[in-house]
Amino acid sequence: MLSPSLDSIRIFLHVLAAGVWVGGQIVLAGVVPGLRKVGPEATKAAANGFARVAWPAFVLAFATGVWNLISADDTVGTSYQVTLGIKILLVVVAGASAAAHASSEKKVVMAATGAIGLIASLVVMFMGAQLGTA
Ligand code: HEM
Repeated sequence: MLSPSLDSIRIFLHVLAAGVWVGGQIVLAGVVPGLRKVGPEATKAAANGFARVAWPAFVLAFATGVWNLISADDTVGTSYQVTLGIKILLVVVAGASAAAHASSEKKVVMAATGAIGLIASLVVMFMGAQLGTA
């Protein structure tokens, strides 16, 4: 059996945080229509519960992302740098959209920022897979 290493712990934490942040949004999108039928308190409770878990996961993804960067062997290639740059930009877009989504009461703003946040998060995850296999 392979022995655990600092590298495997680093990737485990990064993928765990990414999975909670991105997967949590997908699960929430799936359960919210059902919760709406129960009442606004149910939706609010689910959103608050998600926020309690998702924001620490976002911070962990960011911190372990920086750790990935420090540990990566070959980050100097132009295509690696461009992919990484777009990924970091989309991390900011995802975080800002999620924050705007959580603090707005307007339906149109909530729908737009929710969708942008999820799409940006999915692209960030895909680009992570690209960086990990580069
Ligand atoms: C919500 C935020 C983030 C998500 C969802 C995410 C997702 C991922 C995923 C799924 C991987 C693939 C891991 C693997 O199997 O190798 C990955 C790798 C990577 N991520 Fe992130 N990431 C996030 C934030 C960041 C940030 C902020 C940075 C840089 C500051 C970063 C830098 C990297 C690097 C360099 C790799 C490649 C690691 C390697 O060499 O194996 N990530 N990311």
